[in-house]
Amino acid sequence: MVSSSPSSPSSAGPASGTVYLVGAGPGDPGLLTLRAADLLAGATEIYYDHLVSDGVLARCPPGARLVNVGKIGHGPQTAQHDIERQLVNAARAGHRVVRLKGGDPMLFGRGAEEALALEAAGVPFEVVPGVSSALAVPASAGIPLTARGYASSVAIVTGHSLAGAPAPIPSADTIVVLMGVSNAAAIRDQLIAVGLAPSTPAAVVEWGTCDRQRAVDCTLFELPEAIARHGFGPPAILVIGEVVRLRTRLDWRRARALELDAREQPCP
Ligand SMILES: C[S@@+](CC[C@H](N)C(=O)[O-])C[C@H]1O[C@@H](n2cnc3c(N)ncnc32)[C@H](O)[C@@H]1O
Repeated sequence: MVSSSPSSPSSAGPASGTVYLVGAGPGDPGLLTLRAADLLAGATEIYYDHLVSDGVLARCPPGARLVNVGKIGHGPQTAQHDIERQLVNAARAGHRVVRLKGGDPMLFGRGAEEALALEAAGVPFEVVPGVSSALAVPASAGIPLTARGYASSVAIVTGHSLAGAPAPIPSADTIVVLMGVSNAAAIRDQLIAVGLAPSTPAAVVEWGTCDRQRAVDCTLFELPEAIARHGFGPPAILVIGEVVRLRTRLDWRRARALELDAREQPCP
């Protein structure tokens, strides 16, 4: 099918009766897109996920109704069909509806299911891409996913599939695993079973791009132990591949923190 758009999405605010599936980025509000900020400013109902940061939520207008429909691991959940029903009802009631999802709405975010439900209900929608954690979090920790000479391909996978029953593991120079921190041992074993060397460089980055970002380097073999030792938990991303070696030189946050520390030293 060939499609052409008669016009690019307008830069105007949201229209009533439309649902905007908006990417909120990885956490740092500075990584919200201009389109996302415009839509948030004009929304009357905002349905958000638990990974949407407080800094992003602070941009919601005071009069808007904010509804937390987040799913926390195995914790409290709003059923997916319930979220879809609420979006359809809000649009039919004439609201300007923003569905705010962490990172990019179409990457492991169930954005496709929500868009399909809106399409089936005849509700107009727009997809507003966001900065995905899969790319932004490694960059924020000084890991260039495709540094020339180190990697020319990247696979982005969910830890749920890697840790489950034998699933095809993509062959790529760099592997980025989302939702993998709780299943790191099974993921490590699977990757070694398909031929990755246990000594392959690896890193864990938790709360990437946020003030509380933490990261650690290790080897693929050491991943589960490093996670346990430092008490890492979701949200975190695992990166496996030779590019992780560059972090010792490209960890710009650490370099900046050291510079600030040095400036704060009292004069001799
Ligand atoms: C359900 S997926 C949603 C991904 C999202 N759609 C995206 O494009 O970033 C949630 C997972 O993304 C990763 N993630 C999201 N934000 C993160 C952050 N700030 N730091 C580290 N990992 C993050 C974690 O692996 C988390 O478990």
